[in-house]
Amino acid sequence: MKAVVYAEYGPPEVLQLKEVEKPTPRANEVLIRIHAASVNFGDIAARNFGNISHREFFMPLPFYLIGGLQFGFRKPKNTILGNEFAGEIEAVGNDVTSFKPGDQVFGYPGPQMRCYAEYRCLPEDGPLGLKPANMSYEEAAAVPYGALMASDLLRKVDIQRGQQVLINGASGGIGSGVLQLAKHFGAEVTGVCGTRRLGFVESLGADKVIDYTKEDFTQNGETYDLIIDVLGKSSFSQCKDSLKEAGKYVMTSFKMRDFVDMLRTSFGGGKKAICAILVAKPEDLVLTKELVEAGQLKAIIDKSFPLEQTADAHRYLESGQRTGNVVVTMQHSG
Ligand SMILES: NC(=O)c1ccc[n+]([C@@H]2O[C@H](COP(=O)([O-])OP(=O)(O)OC[C@H]3O[C@@H](n4cnc5c(N)ncnc54)[C@H](OP(=O)(O)O)[C@@H]3O)[C@@H](O)[C@H]2O)c1
Repeated sequence: MKAVVYAEYGPPEVLQLKEVEKPTPRANEVLIRIHAASVNFGDIAARNFGNISHREFFMPLPFYLIGGLQFGFRKPKNTILGNEFAGEIEAVGNDVTSFKPGDQVFGYPGPQMRCYAEYRCLPEDGPLGLKPANMSYEEAAAVPYGALMASDLLRKVDIQRGQQVLINGASGGIGSGVLQLAKHFGAEVTGVCGTRRLGFVESLGADKVIDYTKEDFTQNGETYDLIIDVLGKSSFSQCKDSLKEAGKYVMTSFKMRDFVDMLRTSFGGGKKAICAILVAKPEDLVLTKELVEAGQLKAIIDKSFPLEQTADAHRYLESGQRTGNVVVTMQHSG
């Protein structure tokens, strides 16, 4: 089968189209013919991992070390990127009961990657579920990461109807999922993003958008029940005055000093800083499918590249030009 392989860390050019062995499903696995895979933050971070020092890494040192053990410190251990996909079941192992050939599925193998390929095997109880019927493969491939991270995050912070929520980084993978799910749970959402993506964030349902290149949300006098900072571009001390009485400031990227804020604010009532470790739960794909089919969760594809042009897709994402989701697609003969 065709796959995009990288043997060393580096710029998009390291991504090369190669012929590799097609996987065979074990008894508990399904073989998926992948039709589309998204290109997102995780792919870019993994492609560059060896060139990032632990200081530049967006999490504390222990997370960098775990990343190194998983991805490889000097060269990639897993040579095929692509952390979310949509496709069709081609074959199932002898023990598989929940899927059958022909089922259309989507999923998020996350750091296990290997979706920039024509085929991938996954255990039937792994990170996959039936694809929303009203989405194309391209759209469905761009949904699971954000939706699963958002489901876990909003569960952890116990989101409530009517809350005022601000998302710093609303146009990205996690932020766009959090925005749409927060709206589903009845929150009023302000999305913060760069100029190019204001329209994208509005079209996802934000009640208000703020362009971080023009306005500092911590200085506009508004207060929120929840401030979610995806990239860790602000800090608890900067945002404290923008939180309501028992408001929560939630970071998905954080450093040791943010942990200290979390410890400091964890006792008693009052405003809290929270460093959130998010876990993708495959069972949340069922809710994701329902929300997509109910029109409450969507993906807006900006650009789609054939698998052979995966390096161009990475270049495009890194250029900052995108206005929505970026995907690669596989052309299967026959
Ligand atoms: N805690 C966990 O368990 C966990 C799990 C997965 C990922 N993460 C973390 O999540 C982050 C990636 O999130 P993602 O996939 O959503 O990334 P992404 O798709 O690259 O999105 C990044 C977002 O940040 C915005 N942004 C960029 N510069 C900004 C600034 N100066 N001020 C405010 N917003 C800014 C971007 O806006 P524009 O594009 O409009 O400029 C975009 O909305 C990583 O740091 C990763 O470590 C954490």
